[in-house]
Amino acid sequence: MSKEKFYLKGDQLLDISDYNFKSIKNALKLGREKTIQKIKDSELKGRGGAGFPTGIKWEMAANIEAQEKFLVCNGDEGEPGTFKDRYLLEERPLKVLEGIMLAAYAVGADKAYIYIRGEYSKAIDVFSKIIEAAEKEKILNEYLFNSDFKLELKLVRGAGAYVCGDETSLLNSIEGKRGRSRIKPPYPIEKGLYNQPTVVNNVESLCCAAEILNPESEEFSSLGIEGSRGTKLLCLSGDLNKPGLYEVEFGKITLKEIIYELGGGIKTNADLRFVVPGGISTSLIKADSLDFPYSYQEFEERGSSLGSGAVIAVSKKHDLLDLMLNVSRFYMDETCGTCFPCREGNRQINKILKSFKPESNKINAELINDIGNTIRLAARCGLGQSSLNFITSVIQNYGEELRIGGKIYV
Ligand SMILES: Cc1cc2nc3c(=O)[nH]c(=O)nc-3n(C[C@H](O)[C@H](O)[C@H](O)COP(=O)(O)O)c2cc1C
Ligand code: SF4
Repeated sequence: MSKEKFYLKGDQLLDISDYNFKSIKNALKLGREKTIQKIKDSELKGRGGAGFPTGIKWEMAANIEAQEKFLVCNGDEGEPGTFKDRYLLEERPLKVLEGIMLAAYAVGADKAYIYIRGEYSKAIDVFSKIIEAAEKEKILNEYLFNSDFKLELKLVRGAGAYVCGDETSLLNSIEGKRGRSRIKPPYPIEKGLYNQPTVVNNVESLCCAAEILNPESEEFSSLGIEGSRGTKLLCLSGDLNKPGLYEVEFGKITLKEIIYELGGGIKTNADLRFVVPGGISTSLIKADSLDFPYSYQEFEERGSSLGSGAVIAVSKKHDLLDLMLNVSRFYMDETCGTCFPCREGNRQINKILKSFKPESNKINAELINDIGNTIRLAARCGLGQSSLNFITSVIQNYGEELRIGGKIYV
């Protein structure tokens, strides 16, 4: 990928009459099976955080016989530090629309929903107009380009809960129920929206799918490295000179280059202490360990994850306890409260951190470890399971500095 070439980023394109819908036309020509095969061959992994292979998800859903299936585009984007989906919804909404159409066609859904974070007023406004224009141009609700495929698309505005980004909570929210996660299995592809097979995909994943099926952009799938294909939108924030949205090719740039070249290094003469690589539900990477290629597998090997692509640079000017308290407060506020370990555990962690005074007392690390493991093992959804990742990684790496007592097994 040349430094000037972008696939997901690009000039704002809002006029439907200027958009060629080449990817969906190509998919309709190829048929469902070959479309899914192309996505499988591309090794596309979901960009919403979990990294599940998109082609496999589509294939499983396509193979289920049902009267009705749904496609849901997840634009909740609640992970702190993430703003890539907002960019795509505001600047590239026709690509998002095409991605939704492609996925719906491939899995056999004729109804789709797009769920957009409630605070994203501009994105909601832009996308509502796109749906209106697509209906007027008979791109929605009518058989498309003389095929047997037509799609109804509705926009749902989120109500501001982080847990609603979790796919099962999001389905409850669309159904008008309280945003709480469902017990899995059954997974959404078996029993999702209104108990029907449902594919949930992230906004960026669907834009990648549109890129993969674009006959004029076939190189997208060959970008990157084995196990991490294509490009990734990164949301750089924190103590960087050049925060913002960047698109990088997997495996061809190191985390160090992302921080010091793309991000322009650390501002105000402070040294970098660590990087939170994928939003606050991921474990930190220390400043002296950034020299590795940006890919799913490299983060996994280091016990972290690239998550949603929110790369947060944290310099030494921040107080570690403050940072932990901030994250802990977020999870305490955002837990949906359905399961006891997540609801009560996050409250207890917050209480322990609040009472900690480095100069006079010590944190009982074994207690934090115990609560953390209980939440991780017993929580119903990813919110609880990942709620302690950042805090335990701070304790693991900086326990001595914080004068934290006890052995840590996290
Ligand atoms: C608490 C929580 C919040 C989440 N927030 C989002 C989100 O804002 N956007 C998103 O696409 N996925 C989010 N996810 C992941 C979704 O559950 C799901 O895996 C994803 O939408 C699937 O799409 P993908 O396979 O294209 O990544 C969240 C998961 C959890 C547990
Ligand atoms: S893990 Fe937390 S957020 Fe998820 S269902 Fe349980 S209480 Fe709710």
